[in-house]
Amino acid sequence: MTICTKPDAGRNASPFLYGQEAAAVAEVLESGQYGHTDVTEEFERRIAELLGVRDAVAVCSGTAALHTALLAAEVGPGHEVIVPSMTFCATVQAVIAVGATPRFVDIDPATLCVTDQLVMEAVTTKTAAVMPVLFGGRAVDLTSIRKELTERHISVIEDAAHAFGSRYGARRVGGTGDLTCFSFGPIKNLTCGQGGVVVPRTHDEADTLRQLRLLGVVKSQAECANTTSYRVDSFGLRYQMSGINAAIGLAQLDHFESTERIRRSLWRAYRRALAPLDGVTLIDVDPDRTVPHLCQVRVPHRDKVFAQLRAQGIGVGVHYPPNHLQTAFADWARPLPATEQVAGEILTLPFHQHLTETDIAQVATALGQALKMAGAASCARS
Ligand SMILES: Cc1ncc(COP(=O)(O)O)c(C=O)c1O
Repeated sequence: MTICTKPDAGRNASPFLYGQEAAAVAEVLESGQYGHTDVTEEFERRIAELLGVRDAVAVCSGTAALHTALLAAEVGPGHEVIVPSMTFCATVQAVIAVGATPRFVDIDPATLCVTDQLVMEAVTTKTAAVMPVLFGGRAVDLTSIRKELTERHISVIEDAAHAFGSRYGARRVGGTGDLTCFSFGPIKNLTCGQGGVVVPRTHDEADTLRQLRLLGVVKSQAECANTTSYRVDSFGLRYQMSGINAAIGLAQLDHFESTERIRRSLWRAYRRALAPLDGVTLIDVDPDRTVPHLCQVRVPHRDKVFAQLRAQGIGVGVHYPPNHLQTAFADWARPLPATEQVAGEILTLPFHQHLTETDIAQVATALGQALKMAGAASCARS
């Protein structure tokens, strides 16, 4: 059975199922075991195997992954965490959840990611962690400042919500020794429906994360079933991944090679289709080492172009309105010129595995026309 959502360019992003997911979920439902089960543990083993790491700790969302990773790194009140403002609000909310202060940094407009220099300029004596966001799937390696960060006991906690499968050189993101957080939400490179994984730095950190995601309970639920009590040794949250979600993820993992191939080939199709358009700057990736998650361009007259494309039923979006300009985070706002400039220009084009090269060519044609109309409207007024 193949279950597909609408296969067209009307959506900005869309889950892609290979057909085995429903049967995998049905099997878990029939088992009557819906919580953290051996299916969840199998999912963790398979993720660890793919990434080439010893431990992968599954949780219920990417936000839970970020929150537990910060707790495991002992980041808390009195600490600052360096985060880009150009990210989904979840990155910032996780910092606030542990009582730390977000220290917003600017980005390189070519990648939408932080740079080594921007991070170093933001380090203070209170900095406990840096959270680079691997925007659109692009790896951020911080190579030139890594030694200094380590000497200052500053943890690197990667927000790799967009970057499952991408690589740094020969290694997959998650396999380079940092705390890495993935999201497996509905539209990510791999979906569990909802879910996330933290890759810890050490085996001890893995144990801490396992306790944190299970209310601080020391034993697994399976062990508890055979005893009259259970032990709560530490703080924890109800953050585990259910077997139902893990089953979806396992079925998706069986096809991850296809996912990589399809997403890379769609990216190359976008590159070709957008190349002739004047005024359009693709926020490019290296498709050989990235599993692309979002396709974004910078365009003039963005709001008009956005409205024009939406009126034609093309599912464009904007990722993201900057966080330092959000009411909830206003206390930590500071001028971020590149972020503010880019925020008025970025446009997310439809990018999901239901698209065909023909859809992509049509999106590019419509974008070219929308740009001409927006430019002509501006000239007519001036
Ligand atoms: C950059 C980034 N970080 C964190 C998250 C949070 O992940 P989740 O939605 O699984 O909680 C997302 C979700 O889209 C994201 O895009």
